[in-house]
Amino acid sequence: MNHETRLHLAAHPLAYPLVRALARLGPVVRVPGIGVVVSDAATARAVLMDQAFRKDGPGSPGDLWTPVLGPSVLLNMEGEAHTALRRRLAPLFTPDAVASLVSGVLAGPLGELSARLGRGETVDLADEMRLMAGAVICRVIGMGEVSAADARALFADGERVVSMVSLRSRGLGPRQIAVARRVLDRVGGIAAAAYEAGDEATVMGRMRSLGLSAAEARGAAGAFFLTGTETVASFVPRLVALLHDGGIRPGGDLGRLVEEALRYTTPTPVMLRSVAAPSRVGRVAVRPGDRVVLATLNCTRAYGPFDPSRRHPPELRRLWFGAGPHFCIGYPLALAEIRAVAEVLLAHDVRVVRRRPARRVLLPAYRHLWIKSRASGEGERRRQ
Ligand code: HEM
Repeated sequence: MNHETRLHLAAHPLAYPLVRALARLGPVVRVPGIGVVVSDAATARAVLMDQAFRKDGPGSPGDLWTPVLGPSVLLNMEGEAHTALRRRLAPLFTPDAVASLVSGVLAGPLGELSARLGRGETVDLADEMRLMAGAVICRVIGMGEVSAADARALFADGERVVSMVSLRSRGLGPRQIAVARRVLDRVGGIAAAAYEAGDEATVMGRMRSLGLSAAEARGAAGAFFLTGTETVASFVPRLVALLHDGGIRPGGDLGRLVEEALRYTTPTPVMLRSVAAPSRVGRVAVRPGDRVVLATLNCTRAYGPFDPSRRHPPELRRLWFGAGPHFCIGYPLALAEIRAVAEVLLAHDVRVVRRRPARRVLLPAYRHLWIKSRASGEGERRRQ
């Protein structure tokens, strides 16, 4: 069993084998209690592009998050209001904006990481990534200088909330909603204060100058917090482990390595939609109220094992970031973070020393991935 399979099984011991088995039953399968499951990339893309399938109806992500985040936070919106909010948020994610955010927040932690690897230390990359992805989102939601403890605490809060969701979840229970609200209220409070301060050098201050209301800015901060932390933090250790396991050494095209590792790992393995109008998904007829489970991981795995020389056909293109109106708005930020960390790790030609999967999390991840620089190891061996 390869290490990626171990990660999936540790996160979802029952759902992972079930979802993977459904891929063998056909591109679109109706499963009682779960929904209409799609395992084919072209069909999934067609669903994502079609307004009959929404994120704000029964069984959709909106159903899960609206009681916690409120009704207007991108990931539970549709139609004109959604398009208008995305348009106003777009300037936050231009290449220049994300480059300055990432270099501003990560220069210190990356310098420290590089120094530790250079000294030959064994580093837990999973922990480092929780820290770094947490620090980026802390800055996005309006925290100024954050300590490592703050960034880790924020990450742990997010993980606790996101892990409340499982494949069978149709909604959160009252206790889960109370816990999630406590966490999101804290995030919202920080975001609201930064919005009020209105400093254009901060993301929240910029939201104000871009014309977002205080409630919209607060909602966007909550959405970024839920979607933008674990996704990035879980991916980078998986990328490094894949390179290690595949015997791939630095020197190739980093962009290609990252895209292929994103395909193979598919950090968010499933997307959900609610059917709003009678329609068809592939050959299966669906009616309003049905839930469509896009098994992105099945769609992407159909193209074979991790292989950085693989070209991605059009139907597959960046499906791991979604497609259509809800395509990941944080994509440029995610890539900037991933590249910044990967460049440091590749420069040190790191190898994996030990690893441990995270259990019962929503997004498969390493709890620990201990790495070391090969260069320092060779130096040590030469000295012995
Ligand atoms: C490797 C990292 C990431 C992956 C794989 C990823 C994946 C995705 C996917 C698949 C969707 C579409 C979901 C759907 O259509 O149901 C999405 C949407 C979204 N992502 Fe990301 N994401 C990543 C990083 C980020 C980051 C860093 C942010 C921070 C701002 C972010 C913010 C969002 C938001 C706000 C949405 C909702 C957009 C909308 O509904 O209009 N994501 N992401």
